[in-house]
Amino acid sequence: MDLLDLDYDNILPFVSEEQLLGRQEEVDRHHQALEQGTGAGAESLGWLHLPSRLPESRIAELEEEAARIRDLAEVFVCVGIGGSYLGARAALSFCLSPFSNQRPSETRPGPEIYFAGHNLSSDDLSDLLELIGDRPLAVNVISKSGTTTEPAIAFRILREHLERRWGREEARRRIIVTTDQKRGALKQMADAEGYRRFVIPDDVGGRFSVLTPVGLLPIAVSGISIRDLLAGARDFESLASRTSRLQDNPAYLYAVIRHSLYSRGKLLEIMAGFHPALGFLLEWWKQLAGESEGKNHKGIFPASVLFTTDLHSLGQWIQEGNRILFETFLLIESSAREVQVPLFKEDADGLNYLAGKSLDFINEKAYKGTAEAHREGGVPNLTLRLKDRSPRTLGQVFYFFERAIALSGYLLQVNPFDQPGVEFYKRNMFRLLNKPGFK
Ligand code: PA5
Repeated sequence: MDLLDLDYDNILPFVSEEQLLGRQEEVDRHHQALEQGTGAGAESLGWLHLPSRLPESRIAELEEEAARIRDLAEVFVCVGIGGSYLGARAALSFCLSPFSNQRPSETRPGPEIYFAGHNLSSDDLSDLLELIGDRPLAVNVISKSGTTTEPAIAFRILREHLERRWGREEARRRIIVTTDQKRGALKQMADAEGYRRFVIPDDVGGRFSVLTPVGLLPIAVSGISIRDLLAGARDFESLASRTSRLQDNPAYLYAVIRHSLYSRGKLLEIMAGFHPALGFLLEWWKQLAGESEGKNHKGIFPASVLFTTDLHSLGQWIQEGNRILFETFLLIESSAREVQVPLFKEDADGLNYLAGKSLDFINEKAYKGTAEAHREGGVPNLTLRLKDRSPRTLGQVFYFFERAIALSGYLLQVNPFDQPGVEFYKRNMFRLLNKPGFK
């Protein structure tokens, strides 16, 4: 398997290969619209060739800043919400141990990394401040608009903490702003205070921004190679730009499968990861798919589960509940370290039939059994196999889903790059908070 491998045998009882491949012309048209920038939301296509067009100087600048932060801080807090935090969080969970991604180790020296500004919980922020204590802190506040309430409030609180602990001058060295080139309160604040600043390109929207400084700086601080990540994204960018042929482009094939199932009443997609390290990648995908497609009373509802954990909570519903869903399994082919079931002479728990077998082997059988059972239960399913948990593979995955969801939006005939609906709750919240200008 070179790039990502898509297995869709278990959807063929529901949509035939002929029906899928019969949509090639439609796909070609949307591919042209993407590549030539003639479709809806064309002003937001900066992500499309970002991996291959990011200059070496930008990558080096991010690496230098990451090294400075690693020297400066014992704790690094990323403040952001939605597309301004989920990509980095997904990368940390995917590439590092879910147990250790927030703590340095011999193999990963550097600061503990935490995320804030993605909720409005007093307890959450107080716990974080308690955890930080008096230790050397650096804060990366990330907001494209520079005005989003949740990160703005968290940043204000962390800034106060920094200035109280270190004084205003030193706090300035410890604050890094990632925001729009020209607009927004955060940009103005960065100018006034002289904070270090990284720019989110105008033509890249939040949920497509993981490969801009939004994701790259925190990922670099964690010690994950952003060069490998970008190389992975480039692998897929070059394939996806070269061909729209469904047999050769798994991102487009995935988009066509989703849309074909949706047209047959499968309104909900469950992305099922068979590895705990996939948890935040699923969250990132949900935001990418949900905000891109859910418009004009259309769109597939993106849900996620982690198996085998959730086979013991949502497994029943998936097997026998309302038949409105399809499933995409996300597998990781190889573990860095294998754990095997030990042999016990007395076999009191009856597990000796598994002795010597690795957990990966058992997990693979659990996946196969689940895929078969769900297909028989009326849930079409497909499988995306990832080679490993390397940054290069993750770069491929990020780009794969960005391409696929962009095409999905076009197949649905919505603009995948805007999110007008997100404003509705904000207007009500601002009115209830008596924000000036909101009645
Ligand atoms: O995808 C999007 O555009 C959104 O989810 C944003 O990322 C999210 O609302 C945060 O916005 P901002 O970066 O402007 O604070």
